Amino acid sequence: MDRLIITDVCPRDGLQNQPVAISTDDKLRLVDLLVNAGLQSIEATSFVSPKAVPQMADAAEVVTGLHQKHPSLRTSVLVPNLKGLERAHLAGAQEIAVVLSATEMMNLKNINMSLQQATEVSEQTLQAARKLGMKTRAYVAVAFDCPFEGHTPLPRVLDLANRMFKAGADEVVIADTIGAASPGMVRDRTRALRQTLPVDRLAMHFHDTRGMAVANAWAAIEEGVRRFDASAGGIGGCPFAPGAAGNVATEDLVLMAERSGLTTGIDLMGLLKAVDLAEQMLQRPLGGRSAAWLRRQRDPARTAQPA
Ligand code: COA
Ligand code: ZN
Repeated sequence: MDRLIITDVCPRDGLQNQPVAISTDDKLRLVDLLVNAGLQSIEATSFVSPKAVPQMADAAEVVTGLHQKHPSLRTSVLVPNLKGLERAHLAGAQEIAVVLSATEMMNLKNINMSLQQATEVSEQTLQAARKLGMKTRAYVAVAFDCPFEGHTPLPRVLDLANRMFKAGADEVVIADTIGAASPGMVRDRTRALRQTLPVDRLAMHFHDTRGMAVANAWAAIEEGVRRFDASAGGIGGCPFAPGAAGNVATEDLVLMAERSGLTTGIDLMGLLKAVDLAEQMLQRPLGGRSAAWLRRQRDPARTAQPA
């Protein structure tokens, strides 16, 4: 049967902007539950400046801990530059993701580089990672709208995605960083991307700011995309992109896919355990649009309560 490959980015995108400090042990416990639920690919952390993103200061410890506990888990880590790559390599990371935004202002706000600098640094980082024998992903962020520049021109997205492939990205991740896309836009952009890029190496990364993330994922599925990022409980958001809500919830994506005849290998009740733990850690209610319904399936006594 047709299968989706889901990377849970909860430990990175989900936790990077949380006001509550999360210990390394808690991060590892969260990944344990994701793995138990059937997740085979995780974005674990980011090797960025701890001044910029204090929640990711323990990146090396997270990587070491994950390799010890889950040696066969596909674990990628975000790196913004060569220094991040060096730190990730030292920690034993085997897969990295570079982050290139498709607009001038988003690169400046996120990684303090112009668009041209960010493109060149991403290319150099991908090439260096490949020389080290690492696997590589490349984000093309704000690929639909930018919080600073408005609508992102499609030719820019196509050009940057192609450059990332040429520089050696195994996978290019088209990211709707602020959750501004809608299904028609996703269809049109995916069709354009597929003209020059292999669709089996394209991934989509949606945020659910306007409630469109699952519909957007479906539009991409209809155009042949099978790789998706998602975050358990729907937590996430870039600290440098104002207005970004959480990622598409893994539980919403899995439920939609499985009910539509695609397999994911992910057990929804197992996933709920990860969402419960994330709730305890972050001390607030979490969960995607489907979480209330899923919890009623697990615990029918909740049926009496409003969703
Ligand atoms: N990891 C840790 N420290 C890093 C680093 C990295 N990848 N890259 C640079 N640094 C350090 C430098 O060593 C230097 O340290 P010092 O002040 O002790 O000498 C300091 O950060 C400044 O270095 P510089 O190269 O001038 O970086 P910058 O101030 O222009 O910041 C980034 C650039 C990329 C490091 C910073 O903007 C960043 O970490 N952004 C995070 C973006 C992010 O995570 N966004 C969310 C996910 S998309
Ligand atoms: Zn994101």
